[in-house]
Order: sequence, then structure tokens, then C-alpha cells
Amino acid sequence: MISGLRKFVRFLTIYGLGRSLFKAAGRLRIGLPTLALRRPAPDIGLIGCGQFAFATIGYFIQNAFGPRIRACYDIDPRAQQSLARSQRVRSTPASVAEMLADPRLRTIYIASNHASHTDYAVQALEAGLTVYVEKPIAVTGDQLVRLLRACRGPDSRIFAGYNRPFSGAVRRLRAEMPIVPDGGITLSCFVSGHQLAEDHWYRRPEEGTRICGNVGHWLDLMVHVLSWRGLPDRLDIALSWSRNDEPDDNASVTITSDRGDLFTVILTSRCEPFEGINETINLQHGETIAKIDDFRHLTVWRGSRLLHKRFWPKDVGHRLAILQPFQQEATRAWEEVVLSSLLMLRITDMVRARERLATFSFSEARTRINQQIEAT
Ligand SMILES: NC(=O)c1ccc[n+]([C@@H]2O[C@H](COP(=O)([O-])OP(=O)(O)OC[C@H]3O[C@@H](n4cnc5c(N)ncnc54)[C@H](O)[C@@H]3O)[C@@H](O)[C@H]2O)c1
Repeated sequence: MISGLRKFVRFLTIYGLGRSLFKAAGRLRIGLPTLALRRPAPDIGLIGCGQFAFATIGYFIQNAFGPRIRACYDIDPRAQQSLARSQRVRSTPASVAEMLADPRLRTIYIASNHASHTDYAVQALEAGLTVYVEKPIAVTGDQLVRLLRACRGPDSRIFAGYNRPFSGAVRRLRAEMPIVPDGGITLSCFVSGHQLAEDHWYRRPEEGTRICGNVGHWLDLMVHVLSWRGLPDRLDIALSWSRNDEPDDNASVTITSDRGDLFTVILTSRCEPFEGINETINLQHGETIAKIDDFRHLTVWRGSRLLHKRFWPKDVGHRLAILQPFQQEATRAWEEVVLSSLLMLRITDMVRARERLATFSFSEARTRINQQIEAT
């Protein structure tokens, strides 16, 4: 109780009142009033009614549009009913098929367990709906093939929940950093992640390891940042882990490229971070040196020039990422998500096989998957 109150007070200083109340409401499953002025007719379906769906997706949708979620589904009826009650969701269908039959739905948000994302996304795309799918978009190569096959149509609209590229710090860094076309980029991410219990669902074999569950975020950020200059093709990948029985935790991924890039991510979770996941990101390119401190501060040095910017509330990019189906303020190429997913799946295979070194080519991986998509 005291720890909960202390956390709430700490969150107020990090996220501000509205988001902190929503985070607490998500744990307690209680409703909060909506202040949004724009109130479009409810046309959103939500699959997965856990903490992220409630406190982050639910928060940013309610904040922008009021109670726009029309239907929600979860395999756990308590999660489904409590989210529906708290966020004034009218319909609680017994299955996703029943939800997708509602002609008033336009957009589907998927925030269920990782192994289920692809199937739900494919079903929603086939029903002609816009899809926002949380990360990862697939946990196997076969799933990725099926998803890409389903979104080949000219009218397909799909967005992924990789939010870091939408953060204020990353977008400001892009604006501040002159690109050197033949210059390498060094990017380093140190992540204090959540401690996961032995029986946490992220750890189930079919869920794709913490590489799909967590590390994919920084692989995707790497692809995004390298795309500013132009992606390299060939990568050398080196993995290290501190315990052989847990190769996806307290582990590092180091990547060098044929364009002189150097990327590293360390995911460590030896204790539970009281304030939630905490990230320190450092970058060098051309004359630019930059540091992102937990998406709360950005410092950029370029020669004698110094920029320091504070982001309050902390901005990890969730608002713009979640509102992708509805906003034009910040967009990103879906192809970046496809390429980062191919890389993530390769590294997932390495972790499963306890393979420490590998090479990877974006163009070869893309060609291979294109062939699989085309094959009937
Ligand atoms: N982008 C981010 O920063 C971020 C942060 C946290 C979580 N997430 C993502 O959000 C999703 C949910 O994570 P969470 O933290 O809310 O976990 P959670 O455990 O709180 O919620 C998951 C919910 O999915 C439900 N579920 C499980 N299997 C299902 C199925 N087959 N069909 C429908 N519902 C099912 C569970 O009953 C549960 O209510 C995950 O994909 C996770 O990776 C993203």
C-alpha cells in the first residue's frame, strides 16, 4: 500500500497527473472522466485488455477522442469486463470473429500476448479494417510471411506499436543532426528492464523470447536511426549473455555494419526498476554527439553548440505511435518495421540455438521473405 502510494507520487513527477491516474486506474480497474472535446462515434475494437491496453492505449485514445472504443475482447473475461466497465466500452463480444463482424468498427488495436498478434492482425486486415498491432508484429518467420501476405493490398493500413521513433527526443535528434552520407553511426542503448517471474507469459516458448518481447524495440530504433542516412545491408551480429540457461536476459546484442556502423543494446533486469523500464541511449555521427536519458532529457553536442531539452511528461513516443491511424504529425515507413522484424527474428533464432555469432543481410532476408509471400 505504502509502496503503491510512493510509486504514484513518483509517477506524478515523471508522467504528470492524467497518465499517472490512468496507470493506477489500470491496476485498480476503475473508470476516470474524459476531457476530450472531439468525440467521434465509437469505431475502435481492442483485442487484449491488459495493463498496456488499459493504461496506455486506453489513455491516449480517451484523451484524444473520449470513449471511442466500441468493443473489446480478452480471453480473460474479468480483464474484458473490467476494461469495458471502466472505459465505457459498449460491446464485449465472445470472440474476435464476433467482434470483427460489427460493421461499425473501422480500426482494431491488438495488445494481447505476442504469439497471438499476427493471427488477429491477419483476421482484421482480411475484414478490411485498419490495424494497429503492438510489438512484436510476428514471433516466427511463418507468421511474418502470413502478415505481409495479408497486407499486400493497396488499401491495407497497418501500424506497429514500436514507439521509440515517435518520441520527442528521437524526433528532435533527427532535426538537430546533419547527416553525413558516408559516415558511420554509433548507437548504444542500456536498458534496465522489468524483472520477469519464471512463469511470466513472456517466457513461454511460443512467445518469442525477450528478444521479440523487449529487445525488438531497440533493434527497431536502430533500423529507424540508420535509415536517416540510408540502411547498411550486411551486418555482423555478436550476442553475449551472462547465464547460459537464460540467454535473452542480462544479455547484449552488438552489431557492426558494412557502412561502418556500431550498435549495441544491453538488456539487464537484475532488480525491478521502481520507476519502470529505464533507458540510456548514446549516439555519435559526424560531428554530433547525443545522449537520451530515459526519454526525459536529450542533450546534443555539435562542436561548441550545446542543446539541452527536457521532456515532461516523459515522452517515449506512445501518444504519436498509438494515434498513428489518426494523426499525420509523425509517420514512419512500414518497411522499417518489416526489416527490423526480420533482424529480430534472426536474433531470436540465434538465442534459441545459443549461437553467438552470425551475419545478416537485409536485402537477402527481404528477398527470401518476398519469395515466401509470393509462393502459394
Ligand atoms: N510499446 C510498449 O511500450 C509496450 C509496453 C508494454 C506492453 N506492450 C505490449 O502490449 C501487449 C500487452 O502487454 P501487457 O503489458 O498489457 O500485458 P498484460 O499481461 O497486462 O495483458 C495481456 C492481456 O492479453 C490477454 N490475452 C492473452 N492471450 C490472449 C489471446 N490469445 N487473445 C486475447 N487476449 C489475450 C491477457 O488475458 C491479458 O489481459 C504486449 O504485446 C506487449 O508487448 C507494449
